[in-house]
Amino acid sequence: LMRFILVGPPGAGKGTQAVHLATHFGIPHISTGDIFRANLKEGTPLGLKAKEYMDAGNLVPDEVTNEMVKDRLTHDDVANGFLLDGYPRNVVQAGVLRAYLAEKSTPLDAVLELSVEDSEIIARLSGRRTCKECSASYHIQFNKPQVDGKCDKCGGELIQREDDKEAVIKHRLDVYAEQTAPIVSFYREEGLLISMAATGDVDEITQRAISALKTAVA
Ligand code: AP5
Ligand code: MG
Ligand code: ZN
Repeated sequence: LMRFILVGPPGAGKGTQAVHLATHFGIPHISTGDIFRANLKEGTPLGLKAKEYMDAGNLVPDEVTNEMVKDRLTHDDVANGFLLDGYPRNVVQAGVLRAYLAEKSTPLDAVLELSVEDSEIIARLSGRRTCKECSASYHIQFNKPQVDGKCDKCGGELIQREDDKEAVIKHRLDVYAEQTAPIVSFYREEGLLISMAATGDVDEITQRAISALKTAVA
């Protein structure tokens, strides 16, 4: 049983690590960005509403995001825990999540912060390709698929995200610094924070994350 959050700037590798960590711990990977993109693909009202914010690199309004996450956390698969990727993303969301989990007596075990420098982030995001079907993340240089343009996991087409253009990437970094970074102190004060450098080999980062998380809940 493990309930934890991944926090870190855009391109820190939250999605990449989340897939491995969720498999390792046998818990669902819940990415708010992936849920918004799946809704957009289906053309739902939620997806259409989120699109204008996402394309500009701004946060989707809290009311929308909080309700969506609370709804997701009522599914049966969270009985063994969950990994939240990209939520909470500001202090209001962190407070809403804390109240919701307290009410259910299922508090968080840990918050894992992945840190990467801005210059590396720009290189990562500008070369990222994302699976249209399953949201898996690849990189044209650092994390190539076996077949160019095709997802290793599901064979889906690999595309570039709208918000991975350089001007939008810079804005997302500002939004992170202004709105999301404060939750790192929030969780440090609660004694839940584990910070680690997230550069180097993907599998090596996963191994370090697993040991740090196991130590935190031991
Ligand atoms: P979201 O989808 O969460 O995007 P993000 O936080 O900007 O993060 P990314 O998905 O861009 O990066 P990542 O850390 O997952 O990195 P990845 O593993 O892909 O959010 C998108 C938008 O949705 C937001 O802007 C907002 O509008 C909205 N939204 C979402 N949640 C919200 C919320 N809670 N409230 C309000 N709005 C919300 O890796 C990046 C690249 O690097 C890949 O190419 C990968 O292959 C490569 N890579 C990974 N690890 C390594 C490594 N170790 N070495 C080299 N390359 C690596
Ligand atoms: Mg992601
Ligand atoms: Zn795929």
